[in-house]
Amino acid sequence: MNNMSPPRPNDLDSFWMPYSDNRYFKTNPRMLARAEGMSYFTPEGREVLDGTAGLWCCNAGHGRREIVEAIQKQAAIMDFAPTFQLGHPIAFEAAARVAEMTPAGIDRVFFTNSGSESADTALKIALAYQKARGQSQRVRLIGRERGYHGVGFGGMSVGGIGGNRKQFGAMLPYVDHLPHTHDPARNAFTKGMPEHGAELANKLEDLVALHGDTIAAVMVEPVAGSTGVLVPPKGYLKRLREICDKNGILLIYDEVITGFGRLGTDFGAERLEVVPDIMTMAKGLTNAAVPMGAVACSNAVYEAVVEGSPAGIELFHGYTYSGHPLASAAAIATLALHREEDLPGRARAIEPYWEEAAHSLRSAPGVIDIRNLGLIAGIELAPREGKPGARAMDVFRRCFDDGVLVRVTGDIVALSPPLIIEKPHVDRLIGTLSDAIHAIA
Ligand SMILES: Cc1ncc(COP(=O)(O)O)c(C=O)c1O
Repeated sequence: MNNMSPPRPNDLDSFWMPYSDNRYFKTNPRMLARAEGMSYFTPEGREVLDGTAGLWCCNAGHGRREIVEAIQKQAAIMDFAPTFQLGHPIAFEAAARVAEMTPAGIDRVFFTNSGSESADTALKIALAYQKARGQSQRVRLIGRERGYHGVGFGGMSVGGIGGNRKQFGAMLPYVDHLPHTHDPARNAFTKGMPEHGAELANKLEDLVALHGDTIAAVMVEPVAGSTGVLVPPKGYLKRLREICDKNGILLIYDEVITGFGRLGTDFGAERLEVVPDIMTMAKGLTNAAVPMGAVACSNAVYEAVVEGSPAGIELFHGYTYSGHPLASAAAIATLALHREEDLPGRARAIEPYWEEAAHSLRSAPGVIDIRNLGLIAGIELAPREGKPGARAMDVFRRCFDDGVLVRVTGDIVALSPPLIIEKPHVDRLIGTLSDAIHAIA
């Protein structure tokens, strides 16, 4: 459209929807219009129980008054101010609140606007760190098969999902990958962390043998979400940490979904008892009420880059909206709620019930694996012959029509409800999912 005429009511044409089957959606729209607590509501007012915290985001539940009011208040005080060579107090306060929550020593916080930007920022900081400490040959970045680090060229390249890369030609150079840890032959239907697979971390030693001292960093998700809930095998992350330390390699955790209580602790690093050098986050940071991401770095990383640079700008990187006032206000309010309501504690308290409920689907038709940790569960279905993903997509649509929102990735149903979930919600979520799996078998 080249004039500014208002869109037609119900005009679905203009919005090119992200990660969507636009053609299907625009002939079969499923809309959400309002959200409160554990639920969405359609424009017609039908309630839909949120089994996914939006997109792993709304850990405190929807429409939290404290967060809404903080955003409203800040919008009236100061809508925007740059953070390039200037500051405004609440961006600093938001960073300090994040640093209070991250593991000790991971205290320096760079703000972004999304998980994708956080991934690319973390990779750039790792490269800058290696250069600053005189290791400028360390330009190689290591990811893991089936890893998801968003859609920027850095995160996409270090990520390990073929489908996300195939349309976009060349990726970043100097990237290699560890094998993924998914091993259904040995670990199917494990509750919590699988027994088998710690030795897969040793593959990093093979990459060191191959690439020598050119590796800058390894980036992994503590629990991989987007490729269908891959829980790390016991001992795997510890081994990865050891090999990184031995070889001068930084360990980056992508905590975009595992941050802010999802695993029953503030961050996945705490639950998994292995601390990285750099961690990315987004989503739950503001309860998704305003987009915001962050990268938290060890003091050593910060000091090497900042103190090790000539006078002037130390890191040639940043976003217009880094530390945006509304996002900072939302983050401060969200992190206060997180503490006051002990969201990680709530997640921990209900985890055993959640685990049993998820694993009760074991005997449902076509279920070939179930995995869980914290308030995450993945239910893997056998794909239909020649139609990968179709079966789970049918489950998604059926659940939505029956009043429950689940997420599917391939033929895996991934559940990640708000951390305020209670037992009756769990029963309804799993009951509706069970009915859908039976109905579409
Ligand atoms: C682990 C991980 N990293 C990065 C991202 C990308 O975040 P965003 O969509 O905010 O860019 C996601 C999104 O789901 C994610 O799960």
